[in-house]
Amino acid sequence: MSKNDFLKLQPDHRTVLVKDMTVFNSLRDFLLNSGYVKVYETQRVGEEKTAMATFACRNLIHGDCLAVVYGISASDELAHPQAPFVYGGNDKKPEELLTYVQHLALRTSDIFKLKEYLEKQGAQFLTPVFQEKDSFGPLLQCFTRELFDDEWFFIELVQRDYNPGDIKKKTGEQFANKTVQSLYSMKQEEFREWQSTKRKPKMFEGKPEEVNKKVRDFLGNMEPKDFPKTVPCLKKIFD
Ligand SMILES: [Fe+2]
Repeated sequence: MSKNDFLKLQPDHRTVLVKDMTVFNSLRDFLLNSGYVKVYETQRVGEEKTAMATFACRNLIHGDCLAVVYGISASDELAHPQAPFVYGGNDKKPEELLTYVQHLALRTSDIFKLKEYLEKQGAQFLTPVFQEKDSFGPLLQCFTRELFDDEWFFIELVQRDYNPGDIKKKTGEQFANKTVQSLYSMKQEEFREWQSTKRKPKMFEGKPEEVNKKVRDFLGNMEPKDFPKTVPCLKKIFD
């Protein structure tokens, strides 16, 4: 292993927000009919008032992992996974959006080194490194602050000490539940703050062109290289 191997990033999973349960169920149905198998599903994880329903799946042929999330709002509080469908995103009006990619999870060989490396460049994280287990084994995860003022997107860093692509058949139901719960509450708190101030702390602060360059430099270490461009709000900074 060379010194900077932790900078080589691979896709681990993507999480897509959906507008309502009709979209949730359509996507779930399509994925299950397209070679994906369920690895996790829950009706409600979150806080007392607001929460989310989640369906996570994995493609047994090419290993792609996808989580689908529906934000369940209360009468007097909006759930943060509903933000794009209320405030817009991807240069679209809220009513034009049915789905929205909320985060990309990138796999590294050393999450602590990567976090430190990014922090030296000014990166801000929402969470510490969580240590948990999912169906496939031990897992370290941490989450950045949001990347952009006018989007609802952040990055997850993941370290797994095995390659989930090698575990072709294992599906299981286990998930990193404590991390999911903690992340939900921290995102909801961040969202409440944004609703009152209309400001959000970001992964990189500064002029848009400087921020975009830092994001490009960081994501330029991905394999496959064009992977970040599959996310609409990232595509526009690469074009
Ligand atoms: Fe995730």
